Amino acid sequence: MIEARQLTKRYGDRLAVDDLTFTVEPGRVTGFLGPNGAGKSTTMRLILGLDRPNSGTATINGRPYAELARPLQVVGALLEARAVHTGRSAYNHLLVLAQTQGLPKRRVGEVLELVGLESVARRRAGTFSLGMGQRLGIAAALLGDPQVLILDEPVNGLDPEGIHWIRTLMKTLAAQGRTIFVSSHLMSEIAITADHLLVIGRGRLIANSSTTEFIERNTTPSVLVVSPGADRLAGLLAGEGARVESSPSDSTTPSPSAEPGAGSSLTVYDMPAAHIGEVAARAGLVLHQLTPQRASLESAFMELTRESVEYAVRSDGSVGSGQDRANTSLSTSAPATSQSGSAEAASADGSSTTEEGSR
Ligand SMILES: Nc1ncnc2c1ncn2[C@@H]1O[C@H](COP(=O)(O)OP(=O)(O)O)[C@@H](O)[C@H]1O
Ligand SMILES: [Mg+2]
Repeated sequence: MIEARQLTKRYGDRLAVDDLTFTVEPGRVTGFLGPNGAGKSTTMRLILGLDRPNSGTATINGRPYAELARPLQVVGALLEARAVHTGRSAYNHLLVLAQTQGLPKRRVGEVLELVGLESVARRRAGTFSLGMGQRLGIAAALLGDPQVLILDEPVNGLDPEGIHWIRTLMKTLAAQGRTIFVSSHLMSEIAITADHLLVIGRGRLIANSSTTEFIERNTTPSVLVVSPGADRLAGLLAGEGARVESSPSDSTTPSPSAEPGAGSSLTVYDMPAAHIGEVAARAGLVLHQLTPQRASLESAFMELTRESVEYAVRSDGSVGSGQDRANTSLSTSAPATSQSGSAEAASADGSSTTEEGSR
């Protein structure tokens, strides 16, 4: 268990961490989410005693890090994956760590196997790919078989296979009763992995809830409808109480002008897909698409943290609105079309359903 109480850290006149109070419970993956510059890494460094708070406290299993007799056996951390002696082999890197912490040599072989690096254990760490370096960092974090694991943006720069591997590992470790605290600046990424979410912006806590709850509270269900009779349908649906937004030149209908009669799309709120289909059938209207979706989590997150994005990026010279800033700063695939949006939302939903089912 990790506990932060009124944790505050200033750098000059900048409040990097602003009065944070939260608990990270064992037995689940807790996602620590916020735009770049929100204070995630600083908070993690404060918990690990690598930085000193101006006020407040952070404890791991009830004690400040500095008071832990055998820290590696209590908490493992992955902060900078590249903090490795490049000339040393993976095996020797871990061996040195084990020896300085009084851990048995066999643990080195065990963690190498756990992260799938046995075959390259004798290779110099400097020759490792980003993904292999990340695995080595996690091996080091797991060396002391700690109950608490702190991972700062562990999936950054990883390929899909590596991302899948880290996700599975975190869930497995949490299921063993460990405390897993993992940061990310990507909502869609963390929603798939985390059971619980702590969201911060500009050093302040914005949300602290289960992932399922967070998704439900911050997304609006809607249905994408594509029909050549979109205009008429929109009127009929509105007449039955739905809220309808039309987007005639939506990218989900490629070049409508080149294809006479192609449907234009509607986004329909407050009415289930089945009902929409029935209204269309009664009016004899053809539907090209009838797709239930959740408003993208990513946009919910951007909305939530809009006021708290640190950098007003104006790389294209334009003076961005808050939303524009959030978009650039989060550097994510903005779910402009329903395609990517619904895929993200679908997987996030899928995982929360499974979580509920397994409880
Ligand atoms: N060592 C430092 N010295 C000065 N400012 C820092 C230092 N570390 C972080 N900051 C500032 O603190 C804020 C939070 O940074 P950080 O914790 O790295 O955010 P995140 O990890 O969420 O991207 C930023 O404004 C950052 O520029
Ligand atoms: Mg960071």
